[in-house]
Amino acid sequence: MAAIDLFAPYTLGLLKLRNRFVRSATTSAWADGHGIVGPEIVGRYGELARGEVGLIIKGHLYVDPKGKAHAGMAGASDDAHISGLAQVTGAVHGSGGAIVAQINHGGWEAEAGERMGPSAVETQEWRARAMDAGEIREAVGAFGEAARRCLDAGFDGVQIHAAHGYLMSQFLSRLANRRTDEWGGSLTNRARLLREVYLEIRSYLGDDVPVGVKLNCDDFSEDGFTVEEAAEVAGELARFGADFIEVSGGGFGEQARCRQRARANDPALAEVSFAGHCARIRQATGGTPLALVDGFSNLAAMQAVVQSGLADLVSLSRPLIRERDLVTKLAAGQAEATCTRCDGCHDCFGVAMLRCTLDEPL
Ligand SMILES: Cc1cc2nc3c(=O)[nH]c(=O)nc-3n(C[C@H](O)[C@H](O)[C@H](O)COP(=O)(O)O)c2cc1C
Repeated sequence: MAAIDLFAPYTLGLLKLRNRFVRSATTSAWADGHGIVGPEIVGRYGELARGEVGLIIKGHLYVDPKGKAHAGMAGASDDAHISGLAQVTGAVHGSGGAIVAQINHGGWEAEAGERMGPSAVETQEWRARAMDAGEIREAVGAFGEAARRCLDAGFDGVQIHAAHGYLMSQFLSRLANRRTDEWGGSLTNRARLLREVYLEIRSYLGDDVPVGVKLNCDDFSEDGFTVEEAAEVAGELARFGADFIEVSGGGFGEQARCRQRARANDPALAEVSFAGHCARIRQATGGTPLALVDGFSNLAAMQAVVQSGLADLVSLSRPLIRERDLVTKLAAGQAEATCTRCDGCHDCFGVAMLRCTLDEPL
């Protein structure tokens, strides 16, 4: 089989991408108290587009202030958010890039909102209440409205965040979702929220605008969401016409361990998490474009994943925090991201928020 050129254009539905590199959604804490983005965020997205990333996924946007995951998170819950977001899409399009909005509801993890989820839960630090049926319906509607605002702001599409323990993955996981009504129990019921959200968004955006999903492939938790269940959900999304699925994973608060447990056996893919999971999801989704995220730093591994047919798109977050022009550098012959020095400290997700503490001052 001829070598697939990662740097050659790729078509996602009707959207033409410059190449097969995706910037996985990477949030900052830089929006103002009302969730409105400012020049720092606009500037960051312009840099990524100038760095020739094929598809940029904007860091998660809350669909409802109740689902705001953290302070400084940007929103798409109000028409007042549109003009700032339009500057982001303008900066990307002005440099020939494509950008999709990731929309999210934090559920239990809504640190800056109102903690609620499929079932009540209490930890040492916080407690969350179970959502009633009206609140679930409200969340579905909020996703649709947020998607419409994203389109108004000039985004090329939308990605539903259904990974990393936020509301959508809470509903999917039997560990988190202990409901006995139509939103819990069987996988069909646990996946109802994601299904309804997907269909609601389609009803706003129509069939031509790309709608994708970032899906947990495994909770890595006893009695949690499994790869077999993920494959079933992904298969259904593919049948519904989802334009792309980004395969990610992780449990409830044990990300680092998950990554270790999900390493591929193939030495060529040793740095990549979830490769085996992605293969299973591929079986269930056929030709639906898949992006794989987590752990990439070497071009050889990225090439191997695409060449073997595991995924169509290579998705990167932390490597592009340090090197916004990484894709340009890889095209010019650099073999790996300089973040091979990344020791997974995750300060870029904590104290530093979107800055790498290896070389950038806090
Ligand atoms: C600073 C930071 C912010 C992130 N924000 C988001 C986000 O908004 N949405 C999301 O789905 N994942 C988010 N992630 C997770 C990444 O998209 C990605 O799944 C994870 O970092 C693994 O990919 P990597 O090894 O290329 O960094 C974030 C990660 C970091 C480090």
